[in-house]
Amino acid sequence: MTSTWTEPSNTATALLLLGRGSDPASERGVDCPGDLPAPSDPDLVARATAAKAALGDRVFVLGHHYQRDEVIQFADVTGDSFKLAQQAAARPDAEFIVFCGVHFMAESADILTGKDQQVILPDLAAGCSMADMAVLGQVEAAWERFEDLGITGEIVPVTYMNSSADIKGFVGRNKGVVCTSSNAQRALTWSFEQGSKVFFLPDQHLGRNTAVLEMGFDLDDCVLYDPHKPGGGLTDDQLRNARMILWRGHCSVHGRFTLDSVREVRERVPGVNVLVHPECRHEVVRAADQVGSTEYIIKALDAAPAGSAWAVGTELNLVRRLALAHPDKQIMFLDRTVCYCSTMNRIDLPHLVWALEELVAGRVPNVITVDEDTAANARVALDQMLALP
Ligand code: 13P
Ligand code: SF4
Repeated sequence: MTSTWTEPSNTATALLLLGRGSDPASERGVDCPGDLPAPSDPDLVARATAAKAALGDRVFVLGHHYQRDEVIQFADVTGDSFKLAQQAAARPDAEFIVFCGVHFMAESADILTGKDQQVILPDLAAGCSMADMAVLGQVEAAWERFEDLGITGEIVPVTYMNSSADIKGFVGRNKGVVCTSSNAQRALTWSFEQGSKVFFLPDQHLGRNTAVLEMGFDLDDCVLYDPHKPGGGLTDDQLRNARMILWRGHCSVHGRFTLDSVREVRERVPGVNVLVHPECRHEVVRAADQVGSTEYIIKALDAAPAGSAWAVGTELNLVRRLALAHPDKQIMFLDRTVCYCSTMNRIDLPHLVWALEELVAGRVPNVITVDEDTAANARVALDQMLALP
């Protein structure tokens, strides 16, 4: 059966144009420190296969669902950020973990793996704009504000996996927990058993959607702390009365889906099921039929009956892969235009080949290391997540 998949149209903003030297600090790693193979090299697949075979069990390749197909084919395990963190922790024998994902995921893998293991990110420019929206100094300034108000004793900090190791360390130091989109409800349930308020970092949408749609809170129970405004832009009373203090961060990919995209697809495809990731805006999630993490989305489409129609609001590489894997179902992208995660896309086959061949040659490239102090605190919050009931 042939798939009904149609490529969304291109937009000028589809991929961030990195590497042009306009902001060298944020373009770290754009220049590969070695000899990057040309994307046109016809032997790339053979080279990756040979390098992986030469390394054998010494290397374990993890691939996030949003990675390109050309990379995913070499992953030993694919998963969402929760599954990949578990898998990294479950491979104590692999000398090298090659992480095909983004920087915060590789940091978490470094924290959860042994001292003799090294985590490699094939392109150091594979960051995450959401993780970059919460900087440790800003978060500590917010916490000081809460301390001045005398409310820190009631607050449990919760950070989404999509945050830097520094932020996870802050959360561990302050007796909180990490969550992912697969376990946010369990993490919030646990947190509200420990305190009466949650300080949720850095994704306002995951925090709000989970609190309101899954935990029964009102929108009025949530306030938005804006690190760019004095005092977070909130009055003392707003902070005292809030149950959820949401950090003003968001995913630039999932934030692009709008209520209009949902209305438009419902008009165009009668009976369509709208399935979105909880990083989407609240009104989009409310208007959808189902909401869930990337693993949830994959399982929902696997279980869907033949002939059913689905408009999916998550990263394009994954939606395309699912559409091609299920030609008996009509699977389409929720938006009419391209919505890749440009930083996830930094990891391409040339970078993977380069990283694997460097390992074969006895050189270890692009190692991600978290300092021991930060790692120890972050591990507390990550272990708390892995132990959630
Ligand atoms: P999950 O992998 O937890 O579904 O999160 C999606 C995401 O944005 C990863 O960067
Ligand atoms: Fe970050 Fe969003 Fe990309 Fe995930 S999809 S890495 S949250 S920018």
